[in-house]
Amino acid sequence: MSEDRRMEQFKIDLNPEAKVDKVIGIVSGKGGVGKSLVTSLVANSTAARGINTAIFDADITGPSIPKCYGLNSKATVEGETIIPVRTDNGIQVMSINLLLEDVTQPVIFRGPVIANTVRQFWTDVLWDDVGVMYVDMPPGTGDVPLTVFQSLPLDGIIVVASPQDLVNMVVEKAVNMATMMRIPILALVENMAYYECPDCGKKHKIYGDSHLAEVAAKHRATKDSPIIEIPIMPEIAKLCDEGRIYDYKNNLFDGLLDSIVD
Ligand SMILES: Nc1ncnc2c1ncn2[C@@H]1O[C@H](COP(=O)(O)OP(=O)(O)OP(=O)(O)O)[C@@H](O)[C@H]1O
Ligand SMILES: [Mg+2]
Repeated sequence: MSEDRRMEQFKIDLNPEAKVDKVIGIVSGKGGVGKSLVTSLVANSTAARGINTAIFDADITGPSIPKCYGLNSKATVEGETIIPVRTDNGIQVMSINLLLEDVTQPVIFRGPVIANTVRQFWTDVLWDDVGVMYVDMPPGTGDVPLTVFQSLPLDGIIVVASPQDLVNMVVEKAVNMATMMRIPILALVENMAYYECPDCGKKHKIYGDSHLAEVAAKHRATKDSPIIEIPIMPEIAKLCDEGRIYDYKNNLFDGLLDSIVD
């Protein structure tokens, strides 16, 4: 069997009443580098263009999307179908926290149950005419990213890294995984790349110089991928705490969006 045929056999069917045009994964080599933040910001920019946008929160044990958007209502379940919840700026969201009664309880699921939950977010959710869906992944290259890569028809991924991350090469694992799964890398994001002084406007590279261009040049899959630098933005943590990330307008992803929505 050819490699492409072998990959195809793991794909699962979308809910027959749902419609999703493009699916883009947000991945990283390790945790806490800003995947969920990048997912929210790029989704906000997509929605601001008038495109029907969705966030598929594949982080089952550490979901953070509902809190940042201040989603308090639960997803409704009608028979076998789950209806996603909409953010204030109209983004459709599905996350395990929208199904749990008590979001402070840990999700004590074994790996196969977690993988199954991720599949159900694709097969059972009534995604309503989505133009672009962003899948916020858990960190690393483990079971869930593999399930998403194999089961969903991903059009591409965005790899997020912090400056320190680039030095110890964990980001290359994520890049190599996407290459092995034949998924295009649409952009490399260096998060917390610098801090811009509000008084003098000078950009301070708190974590040192970037090595992302070197890493990108080393891999065939990334040598032409755009590199997007995101500064340290102290106001972001506050907006997330207050559940108002939908208020954050940005043009960081304009170039990338032009290529995604052509
Ligand atoms: N550029 C930034 N400026 C300021 N704060 C940031 C920035 N990027 C991320 N943060 C903050 O750092 C924390 C971690 O970010 P985030 O949750 O997006 O990471 P993650 O990669 O999704 O983590 P996990 O692997 O746990 O899912 C959050 O509190 C977030 O608000
Ligand atoms: Mg996250």
